[in-house]
Amino acid sequence: MRLLVTGGAGFIGSEFVRLTLREHPEDSVVVLDKLTYAGNERNLDSVRNDPRFRFVRGDIADAGMVSRLATDCDVIVNFAAESHVDRSLEAPGQFIQTDVYGTYVLLEAARSAKHKRFLQVSTDEVYGDVATGRSAETDPLSPRSPYSASKAGGEMLIWAYRSSYGFPAIITRGSNTYGHNQYPEKIIPLFITNAIDNQPLPIYGDGSAVRDYIFVEDHCRGIDTALRKGAVGENYNIGFGGETSGVAVADTILAAFGKPDSLKLHVQDRLGHDRRYAVDTAKLRSLGWAPRHDFTQGMELTVRWYVENQAWWRPLKSGEFWDFYQRNYKPLPAATV
Ligand code: NAD
Ligand code: TYD
Repeated sequence: MRLLVTGGAGFIGSEFVRLTLREHPEDSVVVLDKLTYAGNERNLDSVRNDPRFRFVRGDIADAGMVSRLATDCDVIVNFAAESHVDRSLEAPGQFIQTDVYGTYVLLEAARSAKHKRFLQVSTDEVYGDVATGRSAETDPLSPRSPYSASKAGGEMLIWAYRSSYGFPAIITRGSNTYGHNQYPEKIIPLFITNAIDNQPLPIYGDGSAVRDYIFVEDHCRGIDTALRKGAVGENYNIGFGGETSGVAVADTILAAFGKPDSLKLHVQDRLGHDRRYAVDTAKLRSLGWAPRHDFTQGMELTVRWYVENQAWWRPLKSGEFWDFYQRNYKPLPAATV
């Protein structure tokens, strides 16, 4: 299979590229990535000299470039997206441009190249806040942030292409992912890198909102399973099955470093903060997939990686990163702390 992996220089996409080249010797991979603030060519260092690999810098919204690349491949796996909820709350426009319009450009290219399969990497956040139970693939979508609405918008186009043109798409809806090479703005890499530097860990509100954290390799194996064993026209949830609060993430990281509780800092809550996501993964499990790392094992690997790879993340925590940080994190009024 010749794969076009869009967004392949990002956190999850680069792990998927490594996994594909390692486990499928007959496959080749072209990565198309715009290298936004979150993209990083160094994530692909270990495959750069593989003759089955090629990197192209470009935008998925560039129809000319995408259609040229689509002609020479069999399947598009689309990771490219703006992916951080807090940035989407501040400036939604680029999310709509990449996650909705960019997806449309990819669909048109795949349709005219007559691809037999297309995989869209979506998120469990499209289900919205899930007070009880677990979201099944058949549940209605109810996105609540500009990020999740843009991802749902991309999905809606795919749903329409399936109905209108019989477009052969598979959608995966992964849960919160963590591991090596994650840009240090999401909670786990942010808290680990802050803890290393004895900086406060900013917990939104009371820190009781929960997420189902899955290790990046397990998420990528899930995508690989859906791509190769899944049925076109189907959607597959991917998650570990845990429920971990913001406070529990902070406690785990402080304990790993033996750092004091006083580094926990409760800050103003995120606007419209979804309290809980939880997915039912029986459908993907029926294809033979299961996660291999629990939160404790995955966090051990992740903490160690950030300790040993400071040359990777230190340059990222500068300039624009701190500008965003200052704008995003607001202390709570003294009386409520
Ligand atoms: P990321 O922000 O680390 O990577 C996104 C990549 O896409 C970057 O390399 C970036 O340069 C590239 N990109 C952005 N806009 C582009 C454009 N217009 N054209 C080409 N490339 C572009 O994100 P991630 O965490 O690796 O997420 C990858 C995908 O997985 C996204 O679609 C995201 O919605 C989805 N997802 C993420 C999580 C998570 O917890 N991180 C969970 C479920 C699903
Ligand atoms: P995040 O990693 O941004 O992923 P998402 O919002 O896409 O689920 O946030 C995960 C959880 O951690 C969420 O409940 C918000 C919380 N959080 C904090 O408490 N502090 C932070 O600095 C960040 C980034 C997130």
